[in-house]
Amino acid sequence: MGTRRNFLSNLVKGAVCSATAPWMAPRWTKTSFTDTDMSENPNKKHYRLPFHSGLGGVAIGNGFKPTSDENAQLALESAWAEGVRYFDTSPWYGLGLSERRFGHCLKNQKREEYVLSTKVGRLLKATKTPPRALWQNPSPFTHTYDYTASGVRRSVEDSLQRLGLESIDVVFIHDLSPDNGDLKERWTEQFEIAAKGAMPELTKMREEGLIKGWGLGVNTIEPILKTLEVADPDICLSATQYSLMHHQDALDRLFPACEKKDVSIVVGAPLNAGFLAGVDRYDYSGKMPEGYQAKREKIAAIAKKHGTDLRTVALHFSAAPSVVAAVIPGARTARQAAENAISMKTKVPSEVWKELKAEKLISEQAPVPQS
Ligand SMILES: NC(=O)c1ccc[n+]([C@@H]2O[C@H](COP(=O)([O-])OP(=O)(O)OC[C@H]3O[C@@H](n4cnc5c(N)ncnc54)[C@H](OP(=O)(O)O)[C@@H]3O)[C@@H](O)[C@H]2O)c1
Repeated sequence: MGTRRNFLSNLVKGAVCSATAPWMAPRWTKTSFTDTDMSENPNKKHYRLPFHSGLGGVAIGNGFKPTSDENAQLALESAWAEGVRYFDTSPWYGLGLSERRFGHCLKNQKREEYVLSTKVGRLLKATKTPPRALWQNPSPFTHTYDYTASGVRRSVEDSLQRLGLESIDVVFIHDLSPDNGDLKERWTEQFEIAAKGAMPELTKMREEGLIKGWGLGVNTIEPILKTLEVADPDICLSATQYSLMHHQDALDRLFPACEKKDVSIVVGAPLNAGFLAGVDRYDYSGKMPEGYQAKREKIAAIAKKHGTDLRTVALHFSAAPSVVAAVIPGARTARQAAENAISMKTKVPSEVWKELKAEKLISEQAPVPQS
């Protein structure tokens, strides 16, 4: 611990994973998609996260680049020290590595002080040759897809053991989506299995009080729309579909459908996998859409002109719709985790939103935070 502390930035020194003075993310007044705050409406039935921002676990699981154990712990500790109390991980992230790292930090905290989500759909099995996929130096495991009822129970149990914790709050059915390169168009076959297996089983686990809520965790819109038709989810993790760069489809189709069913959204990849924090990588396909770098420069210039920065604008944009329960930027280092948490505590001047709309850089229909 002593050596780890040497790496802590001044921001987090003395507050290492401590339970003192937890900062609860404020629920600012929202210029909303609709004006209803579901968390405060007793007539609404689905679980809603109590925190408006969190920490995502892709980089903690060696996504894109290796992350040392030390840096992973520092990132988690830094997020905690800055008041982050919602954490999202998955068995898939680093083939178990991300869950083990989250658990290593969170085991020191009181369970009732934070909310944790993980995912189901892949079961892990030890191997000498793990698939690399997005993961650099992952744990020595491979995976099989299992969206059945028993697969979901087993996955949750496996996750609890990797995490070393006694409970998981929210479970997302992971990557049941056409962009999953293993499934592609066969995702609909797996969807049928999940509709008969994983989905009713997760509803049962919610009724049994084992979890508080469940939904899908996917990078496309169709699977969530389909789930709303056939099952009773609480909250869905929609990644890559609601960022400064790409959001019209979510505004047109996803958000109204979710609101109708009282289902809230966690926005994954709010920085487009680093792009809106200045990294030259856009989402997960390895392709950079044409014109996006120029658009990013224009948005960054407007942010700077009004005394803020691109990353802060991006996070507030994704958090603004009333249907959005939380945004969960990922972080690889203590500095990134602290910066993102601090961004969420600052305000973006209203002139930024006016100018972004006037320049047609964001949709006219996009809700923006009220200052
Ligand atoms: N299907 C799903 O369920 C699904 C899909 C995607 C994401 N998610 C969830 O959403 C979370 C967020 O997505 P993500 O982590 O992939 O992408 P992201 O939040 O859009 O971007 C994270 C990356 O941005 C860079 N970054 C973050 N903060 C920074 C800062 N302050 N300064 C400079 N760079 C910064 C880092 O890049 P470097 O790594 O290059 O340092 C980091 O890895 C995930 O971690 C996961 O929990 C879920």
